[in-house]
Amino acid sequence: MGTPSWPACALCGLPPVGAPAHVVYQLIKDLRKLDTTPALNLASFVTTWMEPEAEKLIAESLNVNYVDTDEYPSSTEIHNRCVSMLAKLWHSPSVPDDGTPGDPVGTACIGSSEAIMLGALSLKKRWQEFREKQGKGTSKPNLVMGAQVHVCWQKFCRYFDVEERYVPVEEGRYVSTPELMRPLIDENTIGIAAVFGSTYNGEFEDVEAMDALCTELNQKNGWNVSIHVDGASGAFVAPFLYPDLKWDFRLPNVTSINASGHKYGLVYPGLGWVVWRDSEHLPEPMIFYENYLGTLERSITLNFSKPATNIIAQYYQFLRLGHAGYRKIMCNLDIVRKRLINSLTNTGHFEILSKEEGVPVVAFRLKTVAGSDGREHHRLYDEFALADRLRMRGWVLPAYSMPANAEHVKLMRVTIREDFSIAMTDMLVKDIEDALAYLDTHFTFDKKQMDKVVHVALGRRLSRIDTSILQAKRELQRDPTKKDVRPC
Ligand SMILES: Cc1ncc(COP(=O)(O)O)c(C=O)c1O
Repeated sequence: MGTPSWPACALCGLPPVGAPAHVVYQLIKDLRKLDTTPALNLASFVTTWMEPEAEKLIAESLNVNYVDTDEYPSSTEIHNRCVSMLAKLWHSPSVPDDGTPGDPVGTACIGSSEAIMLGALSLKKRWQEFREKQGKGTSKPNLVMGAQVHVCWQKFCRYFDVEERYVPVEEGRYVSTPELMRPLIDENTIGIAAVFGSTYNGEFEDVEAMDALCTELNQKNGWNVSIHVDGASGAFVAPFLYPDLKWDFRLPNVTSINASGHKYGLVYPGLGWVVWRDSEHLPEPMIFYENYLGTLERSITLNFSKPATNIIAQYYQFLRLGHAGYRKIMCNLDIVRKRLINSLTNTGHFEILSKEEGVPVVAFRLKTVAGSDGREHHRLYDEFALADRLRMRGWVLPAYSMPANAEHVKLMRVTIREDFSIAMTDMLVKDIEDALAYLDTHFTFDKKQMDKVVHVALGRRLSRIDTSILQAKRELQRDPTKKDVRPC
């Protein structure tokens, strides 16, 4: 890994001398051929297509460092307009309905992970302030969340010394519920992480019910537990697809929300957003002020320098699509999602693990096969083998396991993005069927696996595959030098 293909200089790892631009260009271009085609990367939520005009704006601002607010005031202006639009989209009370500017608070980040660090830090700092005012200890903060949270939540807890309290998932339930959170919440709880669009299956947690739980516990115990909504993907989907669903600042205990501009915000990688309910919910110690054209501009990021490109690209998408455009795209994605769910269900091979409502993701797992003995049998291959097989056709579908307590549930996921059409859906399903047909008939076993398989096969009528497996087993017994066989 990471071994350069040129002789290294004696003093450092760089080549001793440079090379002509066209040679280096070709060298790196060739190296990149090993990468998959982004449009076929169905593992990723991240945008893989933008219009040429957006790409032009990106190319024209590649050398702009966003933090140089004095030198690039238009970037700051564009950023603030985006924050204001998002705050309004998520019903922040800081943006009044009468059209006056209000005081929306938020910031662009490098992704949802940074946005979550900031949102969760504000929970911690507000909890500390609240406790200190009461003369109570602040040494044992904890955060309550479902075990399906993205790894960045775990990182937050470890980096910022907060105890992780997880509601485990279980087979059939892959999100957390308020009732399961209730016993984990106490006076040291800095807040709840509500996952609004699970990385595993796209499912939304019931933020409204979690909000009701916070109200109840806060009233009863004099606590101040609030919610950060991790809307990495859902916060750009729900406002357009499920406008009546209450998950945002319409709920009184939701104090901050993050979203990935580079997911369903429809911008290339490197952009997240975090927005606070209002300035009161952003603790003062987290704010750094910069002098911007004579006014004090709030700076709330973890890192300093960052490109202005994606902030500009986000503003392009907002102006280009408007509310109606985002809605149309989200509805299209939902149509494709439903088509894929139907087609996969119709193959008879899959159980769908995504829910009716959620982000445009289809998570599914292989069904067991009914044997003539009346029992359900696991296949001889799993989702990982299917993913491998599909890779040969160019598709990248992740196979993975559910979190602890349901880790035996293996699944695959297709993330539906703007550049994934109905025609591609149909091609994918055809390739999945072909891959299954192949796996059903061309499976290679070593001796140990073969013994296991034959053992499992006993007690039910032998199928064509079973017969050939047994034949192969006999072959193995006859010729012990043979290591493995193809039964068909
Ligand atoms: C629910 C959730 N939260 C957070 C993240 C992290 O987002 P980012 O990659 O923008 O940092 C992801 C990424 O997939 C996610 O699905």
